[in-house]
This record gives sequence, C-alpha cells and structure tokens, in this order.
Amino acid sequence: VRRSASASRSVVVNDGKVSKSCPVPRGQPMPSTAIQTMTKAVLRLITKPLPLVSEEGKLLTVSSLDGRAEASRLALVMVGLPARGKTHMARRVARYLRWLGMRTHVFNVGNYRRQHLGSHKDHNFFDPNNAEGLAARERMAIAALDDMLQWFAEGGEVGIYDATNTTLERRRLLSSRIRAHGLDRVFVESVCEDEAVIASNIRQTKLHMPDYSGVDPVDAVSDFRARIAHYEQAYEPVDESEGSFVRVIDVGRKVVAHRIQGYLPSRIVYFLMNLHTEPRSIWLTRHGESDFNEDNRVGGDADLSNPGKAFARALAEHFSAFSVKPRVWTSTLARTKQTAALLGVRAEEWRALDEIDAGDCDGMSYEEIRRVLPHEHAARRENKLTYRYPRGESYLDVIRRLEPVIIELERERRPVLVIAHQAVLRALYA
Ligand code: SIN
Repeated sequence: VRRSASASRSVVVNDGKVSKSCPVPRGQPMPSTAIQTMTKAVLRLITKPLPLVSEEGKLLTVSSLDGRAEASRLALVMVGLPARGKTHMARRVARYLRWLGMRTHVFNVGNYRRQHLGSHKDHNFFDPNNAEGLAARERMAIAALDDMLQWFAEGGEVGIYDATNTTLERRRLLSSRIRAHGLDRVFVESVCEDEAVIASNIRQTKLHMPDYSGVDPVDAVSDFRARIAHYEQAYEPVDESEGSFVRVIDVGRKVVAHRIQGYLPSRIVYFLMNLHTEPRSIWLTRHGESDFNEDNRVGGDADLSNPGKAFARALAEHFSAFSVKPRVWTSTLARTKQTAALLGVRAEEWRALDEIDAGDCDGMSYEEIRRVLPHEHAARRENKLTYRYPRGESYLDVIRRLEPVIIELERERRPVLVIAHQAVLRALYA
C-alpha cells in the first residue's frame, strides 16, 4: 500500500487538474489563476483524509484495510420539514462514520441553491405553486444528486443527501437513480412536533444562515415560518411501502426503524437513537506521568511518578471549582486510576480505554524496539494507523474497541472527564 498523489507533496495544475510531478521551470512566474487553482487543490488535499491506494491503483478505504470484506456503499437520504434538525443529524452521522473509517460526504441541496441561485430567496420561492421556483429547486436537487453519484463512482462509501425531500415524487426519483447505480438507500426522516424545539432551531441555526444575513431577526423568523408552511402543504411522510427508513421523532424521544438490514444501517440507527442536542463539556486528559514514561518505555502498568502525582493534585484542584461534577472515566490501568484518585468522584473503569496493547514490545523503550526489532520499528513508522504490534494491537484495533465509548459519550448529557492514554485519546479526539 502506498499513499496516493498527495503524499509526494508536489502538486501541479494542468488545465485545472492536479498531477503528481511539478514541472514548473525554476524562476518562471506562474499565472495567478493557476496559483489560485493550485491553492484550492492543495487545500483539498490537506484538509481531506488521504485516500490510500493499492499497488494496482485501486482505492482502499480504512474499512477495507481493516479486513471488512466488502466496502458498503450506502446513500442516506434525509427527509423532513425545514428546522427539524436534518443537517445537524447528517453532520453528526458523517462525523461518526468518518471516525469509523468510512469515506463519507454530505451533499446539502440548500448549499447548491445558495451557490447557484443566490442566498436571498424569500419564502415565495419555496411555494409549491410557484412553477419557476419549483423548477429551479428541482435543478438544484438534481445537481446535488449527480455530484453524489459521481462521488460514489470515485470510491465514496456513504453519501448523505441532505434536503427536505418531503414529496413522494422527489423520493421516487432519488431512489430510482440511486438504485440504478447499485447503491443501497435508507431514508432518515426527522419529525418534530415540539414547538419549543422548532423555535429554538430557527433561532439558533436558521437566523445565522446566509439566507438571512442583514435581515431583521423578526422578519427573518416570519419569513422562515412562511417557508415551513409552504413545505407543510406538500409534505407526504415516508410510507412503509417506500422500503428502508428510520424515523426519528422529537430528537430521539421515539425512533422507528423499518426494514433496516445489515451492519452499517444498524450502526447508524443505533447512533441516531443516542444522539441529542444538549450542550455539555467533554474533557480528555492523559494520566499523569508514570515511572514507565520517565524511562520512555511503552505499555506496562506502572504507578505515577512524583511529577505524575503533582499532575493528579493539580487536576483535582482544577475540578474542585466546578459546581456540576463530571462523570470520570478511566482505563483499568493504575496510572489513570491514580490520576483520578483525588477528584472526589467515583471513577468508572473502562477496559476499552486501556492503552494500545504493545504485544511483544510491551515494556520496551522505543530505542530498544528500534535496535532489537528494526523491521517492527520501520513498519510502525511507515503506517501507524494500520501497524499492529506483534501479538498486540494497531490504531485501527483501538478505534474499533472505542466505539462503545464514543456512543456513550454521545448519549451522556452530563459533563465527562476521560482520563486515558496517548493512543486512545488520539483516537477519541479524532
Ligand atoms: C433549500 O433550498 O434551502 C432547501 C432545498 C430543499 O431541501 O428543499
């Protein structure tokens, strides 16, 4: 496995396309349009996870590297009236799936509309009796769909089509095109009748959309409510005859899953069941320094060193000022439990939070590994994500075992303090 074009770090733009080498002659000025295109291309490369390619040039995903037989290709199609939290759900699901290693992307039809037709469309544009508006909205929906299907053709795994999709006719069109590309499709419908939630959603998200920049908030709310009313006129809730769907009612108060089959759709439903929108804090900290850290050795179950104990005291002092005490989670290893000991809260131990298992290298220093097991040292440097210590774990193994922790973090409404280890915290933070 080698990194794709991006790894060479040299990028050149030919007719707007990026290729691997950089034949711009030294000292030759580059046209400013080429510089702009190149800057965009470089930003795309460095802000997206790098695709990995096999020797045959086939795209590999983390899921396939991780031994999952067949990469799943799934289109999630959001459904629901405006201000029902669809975009929030779509983003959270995307973040979770990316973390699991799936190549995931959200296609938001509203963004296509803003980009191609301008942001400032008043509610009349969304009136189902406005033939011109209807045709323009249809064009935007198709443009986003075309892009999503093209993205799947280039190796995408989970595409999330984020739009209202409130009519049966629209959903039929989407389903037939998605299926014609050999993809699975699940509708994710968000229903919310709680007026307080809708009002808060309008205040917190809709008023800040580019659609209402510079508009008086009172006028903006009234225009947005009129927009919702237009959609309500045409809304046909998803019916069982339409196949697989999950319906999330009142931000997870009730979840209905219909004909949900397979690993990935089931994971997504489980995730949606645990999602909530209440803000809360999550702290991640490494344990205080241990005796093993002092010697730069990996693994083991050492006690805290003196500076480590000082860290535990400082941590306790920091949290003593908090009126709402966090839940405290540690691993089962002594150094995390000792770091939590002075917090005055009963810490909950998670085996899943234990440090990466260094297998045969447990107790060795990095220097020792380099000297005694040079091939292991080199393989780890080559790809830390997929490298598995002999009879131990890889980062991918760690990510997999952390999934219950991630779900519990999503579900929890109180603040949580996680005291864990370097590899584990890297994976959680990601
Ligand atoms: C929009 O244009 O803002 C949304 C389009 C839609 O999903 O109906």
